[in-house]
Amino acid sequence: MIQKPQAMILGTGRAVPARLLTNADLEKIVDTNDQWIVERTGIRQRHVVEPGVPLSELASEAAQKALDDAGVTAEEIDLIVLGTVTGDMKFPATACLVQARIGANRAAAFDLSAACSGFLYCLQVAGALMQTAGYRRVLVIGGEVLTSMIDWEDRDTCVLFGDGAGAVVLGPSEGERGVLASFMKSDGSHSSLLYNPGGGSLHPVSVEMVEQKLHGIRMNGREVFRHAVNSMAGALRQVLEDAEMTVEDLDLIIPHQANLRIIEALAKRFRLPTEKVYVNVDRYGNTSAASIPIALDEARRNGRVGPGALVGMVTFGGGFTWAAAILRL
Ligand code: ACO
Repeated sequence: MIQKPQAMILGTGRAVPARLLTNADLEKIVDTNDQWIVERTGIRQRHVVEPGVPLSELASEAAQKALDDAGVTAEEIDLIVLGTVTGDMKFPATACLVQARIGANRAAAFDLSAACSGFLYCLQVAGALMQTAGYRRVLVIGGEVLTSMIDWEDRDTCVLFGDGAGAVVLGPSEGERGVLASFMKSDGSHSSLLYNPGGGSLHPVSVEMVEQKLHGIRMNGREVFRHAVNSMAGALRQVLEDAEMTVEDLDLIIPHQANLRIIEALAKRFRLPTEKVYVNVDRYGNTSAASIPIALDEARRNGRVGPGALVGMVTFGGGFTWAAAILRL
């Protein structure tokens, strides 16, 4: 039985660094080439920060744009939840730094770690807190400076990722608008297929840790690919069932932008026409927790979806974690 939606989107925003790193640029850094990257991933370029630019800067810019779009002031915000694995520092939470930057002085703020599933995890947690704690204006942000944890000598991973942030402002649902169904799940038994081992309590920062290249992203690409397609398909099916809908009811599906082949495999499973699936991985690379809110903001601002549109969002990431949601804008 479908319940009344609790939280709806009042505004969206995104921020990406101006600096571009193209496949041709990468050819000068590692043994790779444009053809391999495009054929295997669909990625042509990614936005990357200038050295020293922290996530809080991108996340605050995205948040401020979402506030402006919603017509909500920072002082009205009750809660900030930021999905990321590349915060400015180990602590404080980058959400607190965003709070200070934008002047959301009434808010509670915390980060949530679910890798590429960060934004959809945050969306579900924020919706639940709006229901139980009475929050009325909530900023949900997904953001990453993934280039801060890349090993630029590892061609298996360094070609995949980019930097950016996306944000939404949530308010109580009006009528049929809002989050109609959401789902999230994890399986920690596969943590060693996609992880960043260095710099935590397992391998604290040390010269040896860096020499052993533990600061970079470790990934079994083929296994990640297989699990990603299966888990995303399952999650999407689950939210469709919970919302008592079929995939044909959706106006747009925004999958996590990890790589084009994962997106195409998912689309094939659901027999989705290309115009129903949002793709921008070619321009941004994989921005992890930022990819869905960046795409959602683009789709709203370029007129691909408008008020009342039904949007499905689905993701998969390290953990493993995966999640999906259906939203009426
Ligand atoms: N440039 C050129 N050659 C490369 C590169 C590169 N950047 N990277 C790897 N290769 C080579 C390998 O060394 C290998 O060479 P070999 O045959 O001589 O040994 C060859 O290409 C094939 O390597 P595979 O790893 O088997 O290539 P595959 O077809 O699996 O593609 C890829 C790799 C793109 C990573 C793929 O597995 C994939 O898309 N996986 C999903 C992973 C993903 O998207 N991760 C993002 C984080 S998780 C998430 O967001 C969901």
